[in-house]
Amino acid sequence: MTALDLTDFGIGVIIGAGIFTLTGRAAANYAGPSIAISFVIAAICCGLAALCYAEFASTVPVSGSAYTFSYASLGELVAWVIGWDLLLELMLGASVVAQGWSQYATLLLDKLGFTVPTGVAPGSHFDLLAFLLVIVLTALISIGIRESLRVNLVLVGVKLFIVLFVIVAGIGFIKSANYSPFIPASVAGKSSAGIHAPLIQVLFGVTPSTFGIAGIVAGASIVFFAYIGFDVVATTAEEARNPQRDLPIGIIASLVICTVLYVATTLVITGMVKYTKIDPKAALASAFESVGKPGFATLIAAGAVAGLMTVVMTLIIGATRVTFAMSRDWLLPPSLGRTNHRTGTPVRLTVMIGLAIALIASLTPIGKLEEMVNIGTLSAFALVSLAVPVLRRRRPDLKRAFTVPFSPVLPVVAALISVYLMLNLSVETWLRFLVWMALGFLIYFTYGVRNSRLSVKAREGEVPSLTST
Ligand code: ALA
Repeated sequence: MTALDLTDFGIGVIIGAGIFTLTGRAAANYAGPSIAISFVIAAICCGLAALCYAEFASTVPVSGSAYTFSYASLGELVAWVIGWDLLLELMLGASVVAQGWSQYATLLLDKLGFTVPTGVAPGSHFDLLAFLLVIVLTALISIGIRESLRVNLVLVGVKLFIVLFVIVAGIGFIKSANYSPFIPASVAGKSSAGIHAPLIQVLFGVTPSTFGIAGIVAGASIVFFAYIGFDVVATTAEEARNPQRDLPIGIIASLVICTVLYVATTLVITGMVKYTKIDPKAALASAFESVGKPGFATLIAAGAVAGLMTVVMTLIIGATRVTFAMSRDWLLPPSLGRTNHRTGTPVRLTVMIGLAIALIASLTPIGKLEEMVNIGTLSAFALVSLAVPVLRRRRPDLKRAFTVPFSPVLPVVAALISVYLMLNLSVETWLRFLVWMALGFLIYFTYGVRNSRLSVKAREGEVPSLTST
């Protein structure tokens, strides 16, 4: 893959349910039109973390995710924690995007004259379409990743076209009155009471509120979701033609392009529809419906249905890769990662991960998972950023094709911004996150620590190699 391929791949993973569904909800509940500023804040956080990812990816001579980099450089425990965070990001991320896909698919089917029964529609007790999508994609991935990635490329084009279409077609419908107030006044709202309040507001004893400046930052911690995926580009080091040069270019270029597209889309949508009236489900399509352009809405829904599939697929593949690497290091039972001799893929692991995602996507209420994805990703960002100066000190000998400027200041700032956005997530999310981490430590200390490749080899008297093979 060249830098261009990597950028293409990055955009393919990044643009998804975040812009297609989450924007509407975030504007309505947190920041109004100023959600555009939230996107910029989230982009800055991601940009700084991206630089750290790029140095990490271009330093450690193994391919894979942040899990593999940290395993090879920082040891087993840190790697396990980062990997466990990534798993939260990738599995729940795939579930959220599958739910977003289902919302657009339901809208599209409706327009084509088929009504999804309410008992199995998105938002009901069982989201049938989300379930079916994940099952079909899992089957495809089990058969062979390569073919499916090729299809991805075509769908990336469709997705870009749709986002550009929204921007270009929507500009003419903007009413400046909808931008006023651009930053709605801060109010004590229902979305910010009790365990739903951002942790930072509870910690500092301020009356929990939404909108206003605090709403912009809280909004940033939510729409951050829309950028998730650029870190997956770093996982393709092995396939990159010149990873040292092309990887940072691919990561950063895809991030910049997506930021520009997101800010433009958000300004168009909040300009077309008053933020209080934005559809929390299929916001982009509904905006055109509301200005009397149902044909445009159908086109957007069709594009979203095609485009969101790639994101779900890539996230499922990502989750499978992380668990595969963990089982290869014997931090999870190695039998899980056994590859099928015909397909060459870890079928058992893929099916287990896919089934778990299908159940989570179909049974969890809409809007409950995004924050968990964000907290998992942000915590991985914070750790990866801090790992950069640590690794420079520990292994000054390693060749670094790409170095973060102003280290250690920049990596520390990246970590601080990540933690600050984490603090803006709700108390409820933090509680769930702590349970997830506790589960991770339980598995590590009851299984991994004794059965890992490093500890088994050490017991056998071998000097352990820190490079995952
Ligand atoms: N960034 C991806 C999305 O928005 C996960 O769907």
